[in-house]
Amino acid sequence: MNNIFSASWIKAKRSNGKCVTDFHRAFALRGKIAAAELSLTAHGVFIASLNGTRIGEDILAPGWTVYHKRHQFLTYDVTDLLGQGDNELTVGVGRGWFFHRAREFESKKLKSDEAALICALTVRYEDGSEEVILSDDNWQTSRSNVVFNDIYDGETLDLTARKGALSPAVPVVYPKDILIPAEGAPIREQERIPGQKLIVTPKGELVVDFGQEVTGYVEFTAKAPRKTEICLQHFEVLDREGNVYTENLRSAKQQFRVISGGKAFAVKPQYTFYGFRYIQVTGLETVDPKAFTAIVVHSEMKRTGYFSCANELLNQFSKNVLWGQKGNFLDVPTDCPQRDERMGWTGDCEMFCRTAAINYDVRDFYDKWYNDVAADQHDDGLIPHVVPNVHRFIGNNAGSPAWDDVATVLPWELYVAYGDKKRLRRQFPTMKKYVDGMIEKCRDKNALPDKEFARPWTTEGYGDWLSLEDLSREHGVGETDRGLIATAYLCYGLQTVIKASQVLKYDCGWYEYVLEQVRRFFRNEYMENGRMKQDLQTAMVLALIFDLSDDPAETGKQLAENVRRLGRLTTGFIGATHLLDALTKAGEDALAVDLLLRTEYPSWLYAVTMGATTVWERWNGMYPDGRFASAGMNSFNHYAYGSVFSWMFRRLAGIQPVEGSPGYKTIRFAPAPDERIPWVRASIDTDLGTVSSYYEKTESGWRFTFTVPGGSFAKADLFGKIYTLHPGENVIAI
Ligand code: BGC
Repeated sequence: MNNIFSASWIKAKRSNGKCVTDFHRAFALRGKIAAAELSLTAHGVFIASLNGTRIGEDILAPGWTVYHKRHQFLTYDVTDLLGQGDNELTVGVGRGWFFHRAREFESKKLKSDEAALICALTVRYEDGSEEVILSDDNWQTSRSNVVFNDIYDGETLDLTARKGALSPAVPVVYPKDILIPAEGAPIREQERIPGQKLIVTPKGELVVDFGQEVTGYVEFTAKAPRKTEICLQHFEVLDREGNVYTENLRSAKQQFRVISGGKAFAVKPQYTFYGFRYIQVTGLETVDPKAFTAIVVHSEMKRTGYFSCANELLNQFSKNVLWGQKGNFLDVPTDCPQRDERMGWTGDCEMFCRTAAINYDVRDFYDKWYNDVAADQHDDGLIPHVVPNVHRFIGNNAGSPAWDDVATVLPWELYVAYGDKKRLRRQFPTMKKYVDGMIEKCRDKNALPDKEFARPWTTEGYGDWLSLEDLSREHGVGETDRGLIATAYLCYGLQTVIKASQVLKYDCGWYEYVLEQVRRFFRNEYMENGRMKQDLQTAMVLALIFDLSDDPAETGKQLAENVRRLGRLTTGFIGATHLLDALTKAGEDALAVDLLLRTEYPSWLYAVTMGATTVWERWNGMYPDGRFASAGMNSFNHYAYGSVFSWMFRRLAGIQPVEGSPGYKTIRFAPAPDERIPWVRASIDTDLGTVSSYYEKTESGWRFTFTVPGGSFAKADLFGKIYTLHPGENVIAI
């Protein structure tokens, strides 16, 4: 067992509030060291150093989990940082996510602002003996010169602060049985982007533009008279007049303040992160953009997917999708990285995960988070809207179709992308518990058999969030019947559990029976003669995508008519994820491309024409005249609408994994060439090798080049004709 379980949680005698607490332990080592290992974690986020050298490269460790059930500790090999004789271990602990400030959470949580540490340093001497230094009452604490820190508000570094006075640490009884070794992908600094240009706004504000919306923080060098306070205000967009705009951050301050000690300094925040493209600098007389570097921070993931084509706007869009992923894969899949949310919104993940698994290898990242989904799952099977569930003290915190469905969708998408049965088996109980819960909620045991499942499991939830049936409306749950959405997703959940059961060789007769019943209810209740009673895109999309229609050709026709009539999409988070796939199913690829290439508001490319470098939360984030939608909910880095990228990759470029032979063991190349996009190139690095598709318009037709890795089987489906491919490069000219 790891020695950390023998250590005590310790804290400062008096709370240091929002100032970082430094924990110190001086010790002497008596002999030559063969190996040494430090295991540690904190209530808060920590940075540890030995003899002044930082240990490891992790940012915001121990990350964010359902702390009261699963609290990660990290283990580092510190052999090289120790010496014979005197040594000192220091650990700074900031607030991080542990002291989350979701209002409901803050009022209930146990010990506000009391940073706590637990750790064990195990030293093995060359003579074979061992020494263990544990967190206990031999430690000291002091106030750090990081005098303020908060995930949302930022950090204040006081370079005038004198070394804080030491006071003994106090052991405290906090649970230890919830400690687990770190899972998942560590958060690290990933890229550096120097300030691109200085903007002096009409109001005279000094702004550094990094040219790219990112998540992370800014490192800068400066020299200013002692006690000068320099502030970097992070923000996403300039307003219509070209001035600094921070209203959409809501209560998140997003500042980095530095109080100068009088000498030149180079600094960066250590216990927080920001979502931004720009910073406003105050407190310095002159601002040189080159003195500021944006450091991009996200969970470690290997890039796997690549896409490019003849249309530059689509290329920029696919870059924006990628940046949306980088910006929101910070230990937990978040909705956005800037305003006072930054939470693990389940729906956003449910919609984006297919795309995510194209861009990057997301196995480690999602594995850890799905364990938290399981840990936070309610007894009745429902999944909280956000995981970790910082809303858990408010009544209505779970039960939204498509959001909760992350329970089934994420495991299945990971299985299709990577083909790992072990993961599916591990995740299956959570999937099943969720679907069983929905079944219980819609089932009427007293009804006649054919009426047993004749109602939606819920008529609540976020609906087709932020849809735009009516352009004059700002946002909301949209017009698609929420009972319809719930019923469609119940069918989808059932289908997924059936498919997973078949893979895992579990019995699924009951689920097949329920699926039949629920599908019948869907048709009776929401359809008439193959058409949806609600002539709304999302209603038709769900019927098509989840195979619910008794006359898919007619439903497809209805969808195509609707899109042609309106000339635009009306969908929100749910519908937009599947709209183009539904058009493909209806045999309307060209219409899908019409929507994809549309640049007027509302459309995917509209934001690109407005200069977006990430995907916006809403179609109307900024109107063509530069006016913003409501500041209450207007993030410029929300990946949900980036979910359409999976269609670009799987249909436009045509690289499709096959469910029955997942992980690209079998590949179906089925591109949809369109003269408006005369060439398309895409590839994905799979466990079996690189899969790629390239095609271009020629004088007489199209020329396709498909690359198949050694261990894969592949077929191409081109204009209705099937071609069997061989490993290596295959060229087909038509
Ligand atoms: C978040 C989301 C989320 C939604 C729920 C928002 O505040 O930012 O993206 O899915 O609430 O409707």
